[in-house]
Amino acid sequence: MKTISLIDLKPRYENEKEELLPIIDNVLSSGNLILSDENTKLENEINEYLGTEFCLTLNSGTDALMIALWALGIKKGDEVITSAVSFIATAAAIAHVGAKPIFVDVKDDLNIDESKIEEKITSKTKAIVPVHWTGRMCNMQMINEIAQKNNIKVIEDAAQAIGSKIDNIRPGNLSEIATFSTHPLKILNALGDGGFLVTNNRELYDKIKKYRNHGMIGRDQYEFFGVNSRMDALNAAVIRFRLKKVDEVILNRQTNINFFRENITNPDFKIPECKSNQYNSFTMFVCQSERRDELQKHLLENGIQSLIYYGTPLHLHKASKILNYKLGDFVNSEKLCDRVISIPFHQYLKNDEKEYIVEKINKFYL
Ligand SMILES: Cc1ncc(COP(=O)(O)O)c(C=O)c1O
Repeated sequence: MKTISLIDLKPRYENEKEELLPIIDNVLSSGNLILSDENTKLENEINEYLGTEFCLTLNSGTDALMIALWALGIKKGDEVITSAVSFIATAAAIAHVGAKPIFVDVKDDLNIDESKIEEKITSKTKAIVPVHWTGRMCNMQMINEIAQKNNIKVIEDAAQAIGSKIDNIRPGNLSEIATFSTHPLKILNALGDGGFLVTNNRELYDKIKKYRNHGMIGRDQYEFFGVNSRMDALNAAVIRFRLKKVDEVILNRQTNINFFRENITNPDFKIPECKSNQYNSFTMFVCQSERRDELQKHLLENGIQSLIYYGTPLHLHKASKILNYKLGDFVNSEKLCDRVISIPFHQYLKNDEKEYIVEKINKFYL
């Protein structure tokens, strides 16, 4: 039986090997492995790509979020509003700076329901962290209006949104700081963990530049206690190589998704739609089915890997117990987490594999 993997790490390496190995050799031969030219060049190239002024390469998307919150002065006793649907790191980063994550339910597109944000704002609210889930950007116009009205900051969790746009604007230009992940499963990816943040605020940039490197200001001088969150030069060089191809990767993935959209005929299998002002880079392809668990079993029996991103909304994790939420608090998030299913859609899928996936999904519903 065929097996079709959702994860494309092996074909990706085969495809890139010839170009990638000399890049790795070049960095290792240079002897500059930490905060080298490769980091500075990547930061400049990311700014050019996103249209932002300042970028800092870091060692993960989680660190990028924590550092952004720290830089904005979020601390113990503060509240930070975010979506009930995200990866745990969004809530954990808020908790790690000592603040309390306050969740808001999502809309059917799995992004924060902006109409429910204001009712959660208290005198302790210091920031909103909208998550551009799967690569589809949130309604930043409304979120910024709410933030301005209430004098609170906005940090975009853009871990999944490199390549995405709303009203033709990319993340980082619609908030104080936008944070990104370059984990191997993101569209723009490193050899291991990695991340970066962008901002148009020089003061924040200067502060974070020191913070990511122990608060260092000179060979033996430290302005404050910082952290070690430097992206390895090796990863910076690899990401520079992959950034040149990122738009092509997105287009190939969109072509695959359009094929599924045109050929999967059962209305119970819902393929995500975009509004005309949204450009979705599809870091994740999250579909919905009311018979999700049965469908997943059927796909597995036919050699098709699928994954659930994610089956549990943030408020129902054991880690969130201290926040005192309960089942029923965010009904849409809970309902959708029971329906989501991701099928293979990566750029190395072959035509016969795409046809096979369509056939097996359509047959399931007969
Ligand atoms: C929405 C979101 N936020 C934050 C993160 C954390 O990024 P990292 O894994 O690079 O720490 C991820 C990673 O999956 C994510 O999807």
